[in-house]
Amino acid sequence: MTEVAEMPALELDDLQIRKPLPRETAEPLAREIYALKKQLNAVILAHNYQIAEIQDVADFVGDSLGLSQEASRTNADVIVFAGVHFMAETAKILNPNKIVVLPDKDAGCSLEESCPAPKLAELQRTNPNFWTIAYINCSAAVKALCDVICTSGNAEKIVRAAPKNKDILFVPDENLGQWVMEQTGRPMTLWKGNCYAHVEYKRDTILSLKAHFPDAKVVVHPESLREVRNLADAVASTEKMITYCKTSPAKRFIVVTESGIIHRMQKECPGKEFVCTPAFNAMRLPTDHCRCSECKYMKMNTLQKVRDCMKNLAPRIELPPEILQRARLPIERMLQISAAKIENAG
Ligand code: 13P
Ligand code: SF4
Repeated sequence: MTEVAEMPALELDDLQIRKPLPRETAEPLAREIYALKKQLNAVILAHNYQIAEIQDVADFVGDSLGLSQEASRTNADVIVFAGVHFMAETAKILNPNKIVVLPDKDAGCSLEESCPAPKLAELQRTNPNFWTIAYINCSAAVKALCDVICTSGNAEKIVRAAPKNKDILFVPDENLGQWVMEQTGRPMTLWKGNCYAHVEYKRDTILSLKAHFPDAKVVVHPESLREVRNLADAVASTEKMITYCKTSPAKRFIVVTESGIIHRMQKECPGKEFVCTPAFNAMRLPTDHCRCSECKYMKMNTLQKVRDCMKNLAPRIELPPEILQRARLPIERMLQISAAKIENAG
């Protein structure tokens, strides 16, 4: 029997997102955070997957590209990065002299874990003609070994800008890599990594949702499997998913990514409805609350931990000087290519 055949029927009542913190807990914490922000001259950057309460106290909420761009131009003395470790590291690489804190030092990423720097260096030695493009979801040590970084928001543009005489090695997300190959027609060697959360979305789940909501548009993050991407009306980074929902005339959307994104979608698209896709694993496990998909790393951050990391100025991102220096060039290259107007690039 296949995995999909074992899946229980969809219960639409379960497609709800996490309940917000009670106001009496959230409001005093938010007040403390605003006071600390002033006192420290801090900026709070939050990823689209963070819980609603964190997004609401942030100065900027966005995707990995938007967050890197914000980090590259901030005048703040302290950067509070409400996201995962590799994102805070990127902010530190762009701001070596600033203090960068993140609410939970263990907020990692399965993609980052899949690609240890020594293993990448070993593969790179097998072909001196490799041009290594690293998805930003990797460690600073991996970034230091690469030619250029990309995010899901600019991957297509970065691949199109790669030197034509080079062999592209794309790390660490094979699904994003596969999608970019489909878009650009450029062959690439793909590292075999994936996002543990996005590969849990299955074709049958989406088909079942589409049958329940025939009027809905399907928006999918490119870290998802090809079988799921093939059912999409739009495949896009988290920021572009929000823009798609804002600008589309459709009134209902099936959202195939981490459920934290629904907060901004609801805020910025009044009158529209968002259906959160359950992950296959979540559907098999009996649960008394939310069955939509959450990234366990992104959800390690809480409002209390945001307050505490500002109070203690810890956990703090520290990196060896040579890594800081070597990882900066591929990130700056990405920011430059991203800002440039290139014909036919995404
Ligand atoms: P975005 O850059 O599209 O926000 O994606 C980040 C991420 O970790 C997706 O899982
Ligand atoms: Fe990493 Fe996936 Fe979590 Fe994004 S959703 S931070 S890719 S584990």
